[in-house]
Amino acid sequence: MILYFTGTGNSEYLALALRDALGDDCVDARVDMRRGAAGDFSSEKPYVIVFPTYAWRMPHVFADYLRRSAFSGCRRAYFVMVCGADVGNAGAYLRALCAEKGLEYCGLLPVVMPDNYLVMYDVTPQDQVQPLLRAGEEKTLAAAEKIRAGEPFDALHITAVDKAKSSAMNRAFFLTVGAKKFRATEKCISCGLCERVCPLNNIKLTDGRPVWGENCTHCMACISRCPKRAIEYGKGTERRRRYVCPERG
Ligand SMILES: Cc1cc2nc3c(=O)[nH]c(=O)nc-3n(C[C@H](O)[C@H](O)[C@H](O)COP(=O)(O)O)c2cc1C
Repeated sequence: MILYFTGTGNSEYLALALRDALGDDCVDARVDMRRGAAGDFSSEKPYVIVFPTYAWRMPHVFADYLRRSAFSGCRRAYFVMVCGADVGNAGAYLRALCAEKGLEYCGLLPVVMPDNYLVMYDVTPQDQVQPLLRAGEEKTLAAAEKIRAGEPFDALHITAVDKAKSSAMNRAFFLTVGAKKFRATEKCISCGLCERVCPLNNIKLTDGRPVWGENCTHCMACISRCPKRAIEYGKGTERRRRYVCPERG
């Protein structure tokens, strides 16, 4: 079973490519997550879990969802981690998560895809998007052969810097993450798309304008998918492009 979480579509794109390559079921975790529900999964094939990297780890909201979900059938779990640059020491935490859930950790595949984090820096330039998507898909499909053959993914070389990124730097990063700086501008047409795409059900239209609650993980879905470009985060995003996977829109 392929199970995925995504903010701007890259992870979904690779999850669907794996679904087609492996002839397996594919589940969008956001459906449960929006309702605050847990998953109850059963699969005779390995679990393949696909998601973006947030501060060199699996997004905590997704890890919490997996923690409260039930997995029966096959005990093997592979992780495909979509990133803009690198995943640090994320594998150590995924291994621990597997131990908690009684799953066998079969490795982590980091896949560089276009960067979406516009509240901190410019997203990937337009002319680099398609080459990155093609290379990412190719790497993922090559890894699908390992899954099919029952082999683990290749081990990653981990440095002291990787360990610091995924521990202290991850903690420091999440102290800065919140929704307070999001705002809708006069371009807002009250379409409510932001409310519908938030994977945490954290946006409510009030008098036709989005209002953000406390439960935000900076997935970039609202600001990136707004059809009128009417959402900003402080001042920094006013001149920055938005990124949504063009294959998933
Ligand atoms: C909150 C946040 C934190 C991120 N942290 C990292 C990171 O630590 N390392 C990295 O390489 N990319 C990082 N990125 C980039 C995303 O992982 C990358 O753009 C990914 O392809 C987005 O996947 P999605 O389209 O499925 O949401 C971060 C993005 C966001 C939104």
